[in-house]
Amino acid sequence: MMPDQAASLRQHPAPPLPRLPGFCVTGGKGGVGKTCVAVNLAVLLAQTAKPLLVDLDLGLANADLVLGVEPAANLAEVILAGRPIESVIAESPLGVGLVPAASGVDALANLGQQELHRLFAGLERLGRTRAPLILDTPAGIGREVIAACRAVRVVCVVMTPEPTAMADAYALVKVLEQAQPGQDLRVIVNMARDQQDGLAAFARIRAVCQKHLGRSLDLLGIIPRDEAVATAVRRRKPLVTGTPTPAVHALQGIAAKLRGVAWTG
Ligand SMILES: Nc1ncnc2c1ncn2[C@@H]1O[C@H](COP(=O)(O)OP(=O)(O)OP(=O)(O)O)[C@@H](O)[C@H]1O
Ligand SMILES: [Mg+2]
Repeated sequence: MMPDQAASLRQHPAPPLPRLPGFCVTGGKGGVGKTCVAVNLAVLLAQTAKPLLVDLDLGLANADLVLGVEPAANLAEVILAGRPIESVIAESPLGVGLVPAASGVDALANLGQQELHRLFAGLERLGRTRAPLILDTPAGIGREVIAACRAVRVVCVVMTPEPTAMADAYALVKVLEQAQPGQDLRVIVNMARDQQDGLAAFARIRAVCQKHLGRSLDLLGIIPRDEAVATAVRRRKPLVTGTPTPAVHALQGIAAKLRGVAWTG
């Protein structure tokens, strides 16, 4: 963040957003696997809870395809036409409710502060009967991404071991630490060559955050690069419903850790 941007944030702090009972899946860089991780965690958590997956990539919906549902309506109708958010939930037979985003709706790409507050107020209402809410964010550090990270209990930062992905994950952590110091941030290293590759990537970002931001990071899990992920996306069937590959085992480990978090209260 530029110094003048940081100063402006301090002088004009955003009004508080409602707290949402759940976690968001974000990461800074595009294409690191945020949507695949969010959808598969939602399916695993549905074994013991009533998760609601929220596609916050508002103008470029993807979660419906990865989950394998065909929504009849989406957040465009909620944000642009005032339709109740409850009425656009698409239920997957796997026990996951999806609040779908729109595809190719330019007006949703940059929401204003008021629209964002209305959207989050609707999500807060949904969170009274379903938890956890799982927010799949777009790439970048835009307003809705930072708002999503500030609203939830836990922020899952997905990165790959690529230097560009690590740089973007660090940039995100830096902006978040300025916006909401001490937020619970947990790293998922995706598309790792092997365990050692993933651990080395985590050690690097943890060291940089410690040195420059004076804050620690937790490791939530390492997901290996696994061709079965792309095959599952092509078939529109969540990976974790198929053969237990190494990536499935890793996702199960992450879901088990998240089951231990108290989302409300
Ligand atoms: N562990 C993995 N191994 C191999 N391929 C993977 C893995 N995880 C994700 N992918 C592939 O990476 C691609 C991008 O995944 P995904 O759409 O989940 O990323 P994203 O971070 O949500 O992207 P965007 O920033 O566009 O929202 C997909 O085609 C998926 O098949
Ligand atoms: Mg995505």
